[in-house]
Amino acid sequence: MPLTQILSRIFVVFFIVAFLVFIDPVLAVIITTTLGGSYLAIYFLFQSRLAKLGDERFAANVIRSKVVTEVFGAIKELKVLNRERAFFDVFSANAYKIENNMATSNLISNLPSYIMECLTFGGILIIVLYFLLVKQSLGNTLPVIALYAFSGYRLMPALQGIFSAVTLLRFNVAVVNSLQESLSGVADVPNEWKTSEVIALPFERKIQLSSVFFAYPSAEFPVIQNLSLTIEKNQSIGLMGPTGAGKSTLVDLILGLLSPEKGSFTVDGTPVTPGNKLMWQRNIGFVPQSVFLSDDSLAANIALGVTREDIDYRAVEIAAKIANLHDFVITELPEGYETVIGERGIRLSGGQRQRIGIARALYHDPPVLVMDEATSALDGITEEAVIQAIRNLAGRKTIITIAHRLTTLKDCDVIFVIDKGRIVESGTYEELRGGSAIFKAMAKSDVQGLKDAL
Ligand SMILES: Nc1ncnc2c1ncn2[C@@H]1O[C@H](COP(=O)(O)OP(=O)(O)OP(=O)(O)O)[C@@H](O)[C@H]1O
Ligand SMILES: [Mg+2]
Repeated sequence: MPLTQILSRIFVVFFIVAFLVFIDPVLAVIITTTLGGSYLAIYFLFQSRLAKLGDERFAANVIRSKVVTEVFGAIKELKVLNRERAFFDVFSANAYKIENNMATSNLISNLPSYIMECLTFGGILIIVLYFLLVKQSLGNTLPVIALYAFSGYRLMPALQGIFSAVTLLRFNVAVVNSLQESLSGVADVPNEWKTSEVIALPFERKIQLSSVFFAYPSAEFPVIQNLSLTIEKNQSIGLMGPTGAGKSTLVDLILGLLSPEKGSFTVDGTPVTPGNKLMWQRNIGFVPQSVFLSDDSLAANIALGVTREDIDYRAVEIAAKIANLHDFVITELPEGYETVIGERGIRLSGGQRQRIGIARALYHDPPVLVMDEATSALDGITEEAVIQAIRNLAGRKTIITIAHRLTTLKDCDVIFVIDKGRIVESGTYEELRGGSAIFKAMAKSDVQGLKDAL
């Protein structure tokens, strides 16, 4: 916007000046140099100040937004600890800085217009006096004065417009730079978004990871190291291992959210690449470690991202039944599936949220179901019921389950024990129970035993 404003105003200025040059070149030079020169001078006086104000505002805005997100994310802890004050102070200080800097930049961009008005009309007075005193005749000079006054009157707003647009640009340089940095290297909207239907990548035989390495950009050491894993279609596999072992990272690789640095990830022999990962993801239902809920109806949460008119209520109900959620919805929620569950599901318990997550993953009836600690917030009886329901899907779906509670994995065809980004053991529940020291230690929550075993 400032750029278009600058362009259009330059156009106006150009014609006024050309007209003045045509009528009276000397007058034209005087007017343009005084007005233009003054604006230039003011700009150079303030430009570094403006850039600094803009930088500060940008930095303060980042902090302000961060504080807001964090406070809402940790509201309960903050209230219990009575630590709201510190966040409030950071928020206020930064909010004040933002408003203050914006006010100052506004002042800088508007102030010259008043000074220039004085200058222009003071100039008219001086000319009138000059002609009166020196030339002793006003009659001949009236047209010149009128011309001067009129061109000043037209020129000033145009120059002021250019000036305020330039100050606005200068003030927002930090924002523009940051945007440009964030957007560079980002591709256009993926083509797949434009077409509503992505065809699922064929998956008939197996998912295979071979010698996969992965390191997070910020980390020195790879989180996943030389890991190879084959999952046959319709197999149920379990992933277990100590916290921080790399289980969620491994699952993110399988989900196509991360790409291996080295090694390959194939489905039926087809490498999963950034180009076809959306097709692969069509096959997957995923229940994350913490389920996000939006401030919408229960049905809309189960069919996340599906427009209201397109929600398939039958599928919602089937998914809710498997997740052991249906009875709760029918008996306890006043409006059933239409009940709005509040921002981030604040009106629900942890276990209810997790079951919504499971129902969401099952809504599209995907051939692959990936669960990261999906049943950890459920009480024993509800967990058993959910596992029972998911067990009924076994043999019809490929199921990948991460669990800390080993009984959750009892029915898996194979359990992989992960530690420090490697598979250290694998086998069925019974096999591992017999022979694995890690397994025994974890089953007994025996910390020293686990350390010894690892
Ligand atoms: N986004 C990230 N950036 C940098 N390091 C990360 C990131 N996410 C995880 N890590 C690191 O990678 C390692 C493995 O993390 P991961 O989440 O895969 O563990 P996990 O096995 O799922 O643990 P848990 O059982 O606690 O969920 C950890 O040491 C962690 O610090
Ligand atoms: Mg995890």
